[in-house]
Amino acid sequence: MEDEKILIRNASQVVTCSGFEAKKGKAMSDVGVIEDGAVAVSNGIITHVGPTEEVLRQVNVEDYLEVNANGRALLPGFVDSHTHFVFGGYREEEFSWRMKGDSYMSIMERGGGIVNTMNATRSTSYDDLFGDAYDRLDTMMDMGVTTVEGKSGYGLDLATELIQLRVMKELNDDHPLDVVSTFLGAHAVPPEFAGRTDAYVDYIIEEVLPHVRAERSVTFCDVFCEQGVFSVEQSERLLKAARSQRLKLKLHADEIVPFGGAELAVRLKAVSADHLLHVPDTGIKRLARSGTIATLLPLTAFSLGEPYAPGRRMIDAGCAVALASDLNPGSCFSCSIPLLFALACIQMKMTPEEALTALTINGAAALGREKVIGSIDVGKKADLILLKFPSYKFLPYHVGMNIVDTVIKDGVLYII
Ligand code: NIG
Ligand code: FE
Repeated sequence: MEDEKILIRNASQVVTCSGFEAKKGKAMSDVGVIEDGAVAVSNGIITHVGPTEEVLRQVNVEDYLEVNANGRALLPGFVDSHTHFVFGGYREEEFSWRMKGDSYMSIMERGGGIVNTMNATRSTSYDDLFGDAYDRLDTMMDMGVTTVEGKSGYGLDLATELIQLRVMKELNDDHPLDVVSTFLGAHAVPPEFAGRTDAYVDYIIEEVLPHVRAERSVTFCDVFCEQGVFSVEQSERLLKAARSQRLKLKLHADEIVPFGGAELAVRLKAVSADHLLHVPDTGIKRLARSGTIATLLPLTAFSLGEPYAPGRRMIDAGCAVALASDLNPGSCFSCSIPLLFALACIQMKMTPEEALTALTINGAAALGREKVIGSIDVGKKADLILLKFPSYKFLPYHVGMNIVDTVIKDGVLYII
C-alpha cells in the first residue's frame, strides 16, 4: 500500500500548522489555513499542498487514489509526546481513595502508586504487556494520534525495564503508529533500594543505562524530579550520564511542588520539561528564553484535581508549549485527545489555534521530530487526519467528542 499515490481534495480547510521548528509564544497562533485545499501524497510522503485547483494543475490525477474530503477539514496527525502506555495491572482502588481525600503522594509514600504498577508489570508476561499496549495504541489512533512517545519506568530493574523498552520497539515495528521510546528508570525507588535513593541512581547509571543504550531503539531519558522522589542533584547526575550515552533528555518537572525542575531542564538543554503545574515565574522565564519545550498535561491535573499548569502565562511569556496525554495507570488513566483539547482551551485558556499547534508541530518538537512530522509540509510524512466537520475549531467546541473521521498514517488510509 505504501507506494500508492493519494490525492485528498476539496477539504474545506487544509490546516497546515506549517513549520520545521517549534513555535514559541505568539507564533503558536499561526496554524495556516488553506480554504478548499488539497494534499498529494506519494510513497507516504507529502508532495503537494495548496488550493485544490492549484494542486490539480500540478499532478496527473489518473495516477492517484482520490479522496474527496467534501467539506471536511484536513489536519496533521496529533503527536502525543508524553505517555506511559506500557504497563501491567490497574490502580482503580487508588483512584477511589483519592476521591475520598487521599493525595497522590501519600499513596506513593505508603508503598502504592508507581511501585504498585511495578509489581504488576514485573509479573505480567511480555505477550500480555504487548497485547494491552497494542490495544491502547489503537484507541489513540482512533482519536487522530499518529506518533506517540512511551516511557519505561514500571520495571525499576534491568530485566523489566528492558522488557518495556522491547515491547515499545516491537510495537513501533508492528503497529501503524510511530512509537518513540523513553527510558524512565528513575520513576520511583523500588523496594530493593528503599531509603537508598543515591544507591538506586548509581545502579541505574552503572548497571542499566549501558544496556538501554545498547538497545538502540531508545531516544530519550526522563526522570521524575520531585520532592520525595529524585532530587535536583540526583536528577542532574542521572541525566548527565544519559547524555553521555547520547540519549536526549526529558524531565517530569514541578508536578507536585515547585522544585527547580524547569530550571534544571533548561540548564541541561533538555528537549522538554513536562507537567509544570507548579512552575515558578523564574522557570517560565528561563523556558521562554530556551529551546526546551514546555509540555503540559491537563488530563493529569484534571484527574488529580490539581490546578492546571499556567499555559496561558507561559505562552504569553514566549514559551513553546506542547500538549500531551500522560496516559498512565495512576495519575491519569486517559489518552482522550477530545477531553485534552477541551481542557486546554476551556480551563487553561489556550486558543484552539494554540492547542492545535501544541498537539502537532510543538508535540513533534518535544520528540525532536519537527523536521519530519507535525505539519502538512512538502517532504514531511503523510500523517494526516480528516475531521467530521469543516473546521479545526470544532475540536474544543464539540466538547469531549471524537470528531476524527479518517486517519492517514504514512500515506495509508484508515477509516475510523
Ligand atoms: O506523569 N509522576 C510521575 N509519573 C506519572 C505517574 C505514574 C504513575 O502514577 O503510575 C505522571 O504523572
Ligand atoms: Fe508522566
